[in-house]
Amino acid sequence: MKKVYVGMSADLIHPGHLNIINEAQKYGEVIIGLLTDQAIASYKRLPYLTYEQREIIVKAIKGVAEVVPQETLDYVPNLRKIKPDYVVHGDDWKTGIQQDIRAKIINALAEWGGQLIEVPYTKGISSTYLNARVKEIGTTSEIRMKQLRRLIDAKPIVRVIEAHNGLTGLIAENIKVIKNNQSREFDAIWISSLTDSTAKGKPDIELVDLTSRITTISDILEVTTKPIIVDGDTGGIPELFVYTVRSLERLGISAIIIEDKIGLKKNSLFGTDVEQQQDLIDNFCYKIKQGKKSQVTEDFMIISRIESLILKKGLEDALKRARAYIEAGTDGIMIHSKEKDPAEIFTFCEEFKKLPKRVPLVVVPSTYNSVTETQLQEYGVNIVIYANQLLRSAYPAMVKTAQTILENERALEADQYCMPIKEILTLIPEWK
Ligand code: SPV
Ligand code: MG
Repeated sequence: MKKVYVGMSADLIHPGHLNIINEAQKYGEVIIGLLTDQAIASYKRLPYLTYEQREIIVKAIKGVAEVVPQETLDYVPNLRKIKPDYVVHGDDWKTGIQQDIRAKIINALAEWGGQLIEVPYTKGISSTYLNARVKEIGTTSEIRMKQLRRLIDAKPIVRVIEAHNGLTGLIAENIKVIKNNQSREFDAIWISSLTDSTAKGKPDIELVDLTSRITTISDILEVTTKPIIVDGDTGGIPELFVYTVRSLERLGISAIIIEDKIGLKKNSLFGTDVEQQQDLIDNFCYKIKQGKKSQVTEDFMIISRIESLILKKGLEDALKRARAYIEAGTDGIMIHSKEKDPAEIFTFCEEFKKLPKRVPLVVVPSTYNSVTETQLQEYGVNIVIYANQLLRSAYPAMVKTAQTILENERALEADQYCMPIKEILTLIPEWK
């Protein structure tokens, strides 16, 4: 029996997939190389279904003899192991993102005389189309909540951007760029206390209460499907924190990050210019433990934010706290810095790697913004948060427009800074 290899993601199975499998069967025994979450996340968004769920479905399809994991987008490692007589694929990959992969397959097959068979692409249906429709339908709290842990497992680094209302939520959800033949987008959304407060014209001192924060969050939940991380400030006193955890978990938020400060919280980027007090390790550990006890699911994450570098307490203090918070059951550590240079963050990362119990590591490079995602990834960072850039870029643009109208006593001159009226009318289409 000849061996036929078919690589697929099989997230939203459609007749096109079945057609390929039917065709492949004509050439021999069909082995499906099922792309892992890691392989898929390396070039597009995470699949809706987990690897295990997709495997169950594909195994049950008539004509599939075997399913093996394909760990990379590149077929070659699996092909060299299996040495199939044929690879079967739809003929819609000769241009665009997949053309390099196709060329590599042809070269590898030539090593043992294998052949690539291309089946005419099934018109009128595609995963891209189905994905768009699924996005329109939306998501559920449960699916959304689980996504963050899946992303941490599947991606070398999870990229997060702040949103402070529905419109910025839509930007986080939809903005993409194509780079090196790959689609790049944000993976998740950060609800910043700084930008949520600032957008409401309030200082970032835990003045905007949970009810108001949840109103912002609800606006964002309504128009997005990506996972959400909430900036929980200090989390408040443990007796109240447990309620916050439950409220956010119920909404389908994936994680809350709480910082180890007490008393009147000021924004960390003030550093030691204002008086800020760090919590005792034992107190903060108690808060983490109470929070973990109160959550209902296994999925919700409580991430602990260490302020030692912000408050100039030193690396040793930061590491001591990391060890203690991990021992108390935290699901992740955020290390913060307000230096212009990433050196102290890098040093922390190196030491963090050596800890016996490792949890995901989060950073917020607002001041040390020359750092690249590749560098952070190399230092073992799992989540990078762009915490305030959408609000910071919008405000100067709005101020300039307001000043221009005042200067000219009319709006004509300000028009160059504005999007066309036609565009704003159609920016948010009606749901059909
Ligand atoms: C926020 O975005 O509100 C944060 C990060 O907490 S920082 O502003 O750097 O403290
Ligand atoms: Mg904050």
